[in-house]
Amino acid sequence: MRVPLIAGNWKMNNTIEESLDLANNLVEFSKKFDKNREILICAPFTALHALKKVLNGSKIKLGAQNMHFEESGAYTGEISAVMLKDIGVDCVIIGHSERRQYFNESDELLNKKIKTALKFNLKPILCVGETLEQREANAEKETVRSQIINGLHDINIEYLKNIVIAYEPVWAIGTGKTATSKQANEIISYIRSVIKELYGVNVSENIIIQYGGSVKGSNASEIMAESDIDGALVGGASLKADEFIKIINY
Ligand code: 13P
Repeated sequence: MRVPLIAGNWKMNNTIEESLDLANNLVEFSKKFDKNREILICAPFTALHALKKVLNGSKIKLGAQNMHFEESGAYTGEISAVMLKDIGVDCVIIGHSERRQYFNESDELLNKKIKTALKFNLKPILCVGETLEQREANAEKETVRSQIINGLHDINIEYLKNIVIAYEPVWAIGTGKTATSKQANEIISYIRSVIKELYGVNVSENIIIQYGGSVKGSNASEIMAESDIDGALVGGASLKADEFIKIINY
């Protein structure tokens, strides 16, 4: 059975104080929350250490939003998997469309990052999704297909239980335009079929595939009702405790 994963991606928001305030609210809520759901917050690097102390012993997992693929070395300004593990981080977002778009991250680079994350037992959330131009050209399936095939290149089947995929159509991120739940489910089912081709039915039926893009309290239930959608990767609406709690509690 696939347990839904509701993850907040705070992006470049929140000071340490704001992060702790938000996390404390979520921890309080999670104490009496008994639905079978995984909860994750992916915070800026600067807040991770302080957050770990607040989240320790709670149901809420901690994630980072990026990492370098090398374990250490002369990479000024970068953060390694070893450093994230040192803090006690559980997950790391890899290949968010904002990283692909603004920092030119390629599938080949992301593949290296995923391999390093897995080596250090950090669960990567591989983000895939088409741009508006690609959707208008009816190229959404071939886009996510090549992102999956190249992103997972040479990754052994034994690691697949530690990988999450997030389908985030670029045109739905931060725009208020959500893919309809049917559109999201169609592509997520397709992603599952690509995983089946690569790794077989057992893996494809068990891998967690989230939807992301303008998820809010008011549309979470409809999205999560779809058969192949196993969770949400939430940007803007994860920055307010009340709103994020509505999504967790869909
Ligand atoms: P929004 O929920 O703000 O559209 O962002 C989605 C996202 O990019 C999550 O990673």
